[in-house]
Order: sequence, then C-alpha cells, then structure tokens
Amino acid sequence: MSNQKETRSKNRSRQPKSPEFKKFMGANWGARPTDGYERSEAVPFASARREKLGKQFAGIRLVIPAGALVTRNNDCDYRFRPHSAFAHLTGLGTDRQPNAVLVLDPATKDPADGETTHTATIYFRPRASRQSEEFYANARYGELWVGVRPSLEEFERMSGIHCEPLDTLPEALAKNAGEVDFALVATSDTETTDLVNQIRQKAGQDPESAAKLDEKLEEALSELRLRKDSWEIDQMRRAIAATKEGFEQAIRSFPRACAHFRGERVIEGAFGARARELGNGLGYDTIAASGEHAATLHWIVNDGVVRDGDVILMDAGVELDSLYTADITRTMPINGRFTPVQRRIYQAVLDAADAAFERANQPGCIFAEVHEAAMEVIAKRLDEWGFLPVSWEESLESNGQYHRRWMVHGTSHHLGLDVHDCAQARREMYTEAKLEPGMIFTIEPGLYFRKDDLAVPEEYRGISVRIEDDILVREDGSCERLSEGIARDTDAVEAWVQGLLG
Ligand code: GLY
Ligand code: MN
Ligand code: MN
Repeated sequence: MSNQKETRSKNRSRQPKSPEFKKFMGANWGARPTDGYERSEAVPFASARREKLGKQFAGIRLVIPAGALVTRNNDCDYRFRPHSAFAHLTGLGTDRQPNAVLVLDPATKDPADGETTHTATIYFRPRASRQSEEFYANARYGELWVGVRPSLEEFERMSGIHCEPLDTLPEALAKNAGEVDFALVATSDTETTDLVNQIRQKAGQDPESAAKLDEKLEEALSELRLRKDSWEIDQMRRAIAATKEGFEQAIRSFPRACAHFRGERVIEGAFGARARELGNGLGYDTIAASGEHAATLHWIVNDGVVRDGDVILMDAGVELDSLYTADITRTMPINGRFTPVQRRIYQAVLDAADAAFERANQPGCIFAEVHEAAMEVIAKRLDEWGFLPVSWEESLESNGQYHRRWMVHGTSHHLGLDVHDCAQARREMYTEAKLEPGMIFTIEPGLYFRKDDLAVPEEYRGISVRIEDDILVREDGSCERLSEGIARDTDAVEAWVQGLLG
C-alpha cells in the first residue's frame, strides 16, 4: 500500500527522466551571482563564544546541529529556523542551513592557557551542480525549487568556519570514537542524535554519562548567552525598533479591526506583515487580545471581535534576520482613551513595572528580586482596592500569595535569540544570580480580571493589562529600558494611539 501511495504522489507531477532532458537541463546557464555570501559581521563574536565554550569542554567533541526541516503537513515543511545554539556559535541567522552540523573537535595539541581548545567545522549539504538531478528535481534542496544555496567555499567565507560536505560527517564523528567523549545538543535533530548515539554505543560509551554530558552542554550553551556581547546588544536595539514599527502598523489597523468580524486577526496580521518586511518574522506568536480575551495569558487564537471602548493587550516581537527577538507588550485603548477604571488598573501595573526597574537598577540586584519588587506593588494595590482576604504584607508571605490570583506568571525572563532565552541555565546562574552587564531581560507585570471573576467588583471584570519592556544591564551595572521609546504611561499611550489614528 505505502508504495502505491508514494507512486501516486509522484504521479501527480511527471518529471522528464530521459538522459537527453537531464543534459539539456544542465547546460547553458550563466555564472551564478557572486554576492550574498559576504563574511557575517558576527564572525569575530561567534569565534569568541566558541572559545569560551571550548574552555569548559576541553578534550570533548562537541556536536551542535542546526536542525532539520520539519514537516508541517503532507509534503509541506515549516520555514526553516536554525537551533539558537547553532546561530549563536556560528553567527549565522535566517534559514541557514537545514541539516548543517557544527562540530568542535578537541585540538590535537594540549590546550595551554590562551590557546584554542577546539577546531570548528561546519558539515552541511552544499548546493549540487547544475548537471545533477537535485538541481531541478529535488523540491527540498534543489536550486530551481528553493533558490541558490551556498557552496562549501561560500559558506566558509560567510561563517569564517571551515566547511565539509555533510556526507563526510559520520566518518568524521566516528574518528577515534573510543578515545573521545561526545557532548551533543540532542534536542535539535534526531538524525544527528541517532548517529552520535550509535557511534557512542559502538565505542562502548556509558549511555548515562553520555546523557549527562549532553545535559551539561545544553546548560553551558544557555549560560553562555546570559551576557550579550556588543553585537548582540545592537541586534536587540534593532529588533525593538522594528517591533515599535510593527505596533504602529497594528494601531493604524484599529478602525478596520473594529469593523471586522475577527478584528483581533486584523491587528495580528498588521504586526506580522511589518515583522516579515523588517526581519525574519515573529519571535513568537503574537497575542492580540481584546477585552476579556486579554485575561487568557497565551491568547494566540486571536479570533475575537474588537470593540470601541475595549483595551487591547498586544504582546509581540520582531525577530531579525540574525534571529534576535524583541518581546514587548502594550495595552492600548482601541479608541485612544482609557476609561477611569482601565486607567486605574493600568497605573497599578505601570507602578509595578517601574518599581521592578528601580530594583533592577540597584547595585547587586538578584534576578528574582525584580519580580519581588513588582509583586509588592501589585499586592499593595489589590489590598487598597479591597480584593485580598489578608493584608498585602501577609499576601506576600510564601504561604499567602493571594495576589497571584490576578498575575500567575513571572515578571522577568532573559531574552535574546529565544524569547525565553537561556532557559537551560542553572538556577544559581539565572534566578538566583546577580544582574550582570550584558544581560537583557523583560519586566512584564500584569493584572488580569476575568469576566467571570466574582472576587472583584463588576467594573473590573473583563479588563486586563500587561506592560512588558526589555531591559539591558549596561557596563557600569545600571539598567537601560531598551523599549523606552515605545509609549508606556497612560497619557503617552493615549497620545500615541490618537496620533496614529489621525
Ligand atoms: N511573549 C511571551 C512572553 O512575554 O514571555
Ligand atoms: Mn516576555
Ligand atoms: Mn511577551
């Protein structure tokens, strides 16, 4: 049956097979363009990152796959996005390169201080010649289907890393496998994971220690990204600038959204169009949550109506071609004016965000304290409004936490190549660590009052607010709100929306 099925799908298009046709397809093509493979500006930064990583894994062969194409349905793939660790260590972004694998091989010399510990090689599938069948008959990799792909030399020029063809990877990995341990990013590409595990097994390596090494590598790769270098900080500034443009395009779409049966999609689409124009696309699915939908924390269905008088909570970020993403939330009145109760809730959240920023700005601030500062304001305000069954002080105690009914999520996370960046870092390096120069993280308190929340007065029900900013710790330890240029306080948000609605 399966064969029949395969034949059936192949029968859909009949590709000519004759040798004459193949010869004809392979002839009479002009020279390929020579531009488009310039050395990435990130090359020296990526090289420094590899050095840092290598020092933690002297003598160990490190395998970091970019990942494979993922089927969306039937014969359609998702747009390719390399694993963030691969992007970080190669400096290559966008769609480079399905199935590529970065291998950091232990240097043959004993690595003395300052000397390189590993040699880097990228294994990938270079473009096939125009005389090959792949050129015109392979819908996943053929140039006639997916556009010009790089040669080994071109990829080497771009990345500054020596390149070899992918089909030599098994042999290269198996070389002296009995004498060398492997650490692998096992979550990126099942084919490479299977290959490495087979080699390990053949070499008699203990699977438990192997799994521990893989975990250690993922942890180290996350921790390597906790402090951004100057190139990354610049990318983040650009991602935030592009995101501001996306929000502005979204605001311009409010009148059309109000007239549409699925207005939230109109707003989502307006942002998404700008994200594709200015960057690689979205860093994560946009939340465009109007009215009561904003109480659903990950509302990405976005199929609701948008009403004059609602506030819309929009959480969106442009991911650049370098794959760095912003993560911004603004809550905006659709008609340009907050009602008094919307304004009151907004102000409470803004005060929490400002208190969190002030705390982050104190020397020696621990990451978790940013959240605590925000929670203190949220608990106090809810107490003032009479919503807590205990005092705000009691609510803040670990066995209280009643205020969290209205904000169950955390206040901050690291941000960069992944929207929730550095997620595998150890607690002591992340939540329990001091803020350090180069760190970029969010501050995103909120208050969410569901329409059916009988614990709050009726006027609050169906209104939710989150304000999310992206924060950089500068070299001197002080914090900079990178998203300061995107209107934040109530008057500024009203003026922003009104100005764009004309
Ligand atoms: N946009 C997801 C988040 O804010 O964490
Ligand atoms: Mn966030
Ligand atoms: Mn967000």
